Amino acid sequence: MEKTLVLLKPGALQRGLVGEVISRFEKRGLSLIGIKMMQLTDEILNEHYAHLADKPFFGKLKDSMMAAPVIACCFEGVEAVAVVRAMAGATNGRQAAPGTIRGDYCMSNQQNVVHTSDSVENAAVEVNRFFKKEELFKYSPMSWPFQYSTDELGND
Ligand code: TYD
Repeated sequence: MEKTLVLLKPGALQRGLVGEVISRFEKRGLSLIGIKMMQLTDEILNEHYAHLADKPFFGKLKDSMMAAPVIACCFEGVEAVAVVRAMAGATNGRQAAPGTIRGDYCMSNQQNVVHTSDSVENAAVEVNRFFKKEELFKYSPMSWPFQYSTDELGND
């Protein structure tokens, strides 16, 4: 099972989209194994967005991520990183396909509702950055045998 990080950005909280967005991931079949509200800081954003540090929008991006708290979620599932990323849609909400979270809930490149990890390697680093070990919960969702085949669950 893969774990991936989702951040519901300040705009999701301010616009009352938190429940709807989390509900989409739940309904798809992803298991929520960690969740918390956090006020992000310059320090954690410098790490999290290090790959964008030389971009002209870096300062404004960080300001937008500190404008209100975020909701950090860790979801688990088979190939969860790619599934969650596809559900978020293209970075720029105006270009994101309808049916994706960004394509349904935003019109902006920066105010684009969610952050999702972009690779299995980065997901591991990001989950670690936002969650302590004891903040992630291990349980076997009772729905799994009805969501996955036995080989997908690694039970064969
Ligand atoms: P990036 O990691 O490229 O995209 P994604 O969030 O889809 O993984 O960019 C991180 C965030 O930076 C993005 O969610 C919104 C912001 N951003 C801008 O504000 N302007 C831009 O031109 C781009 C590309 C991103």
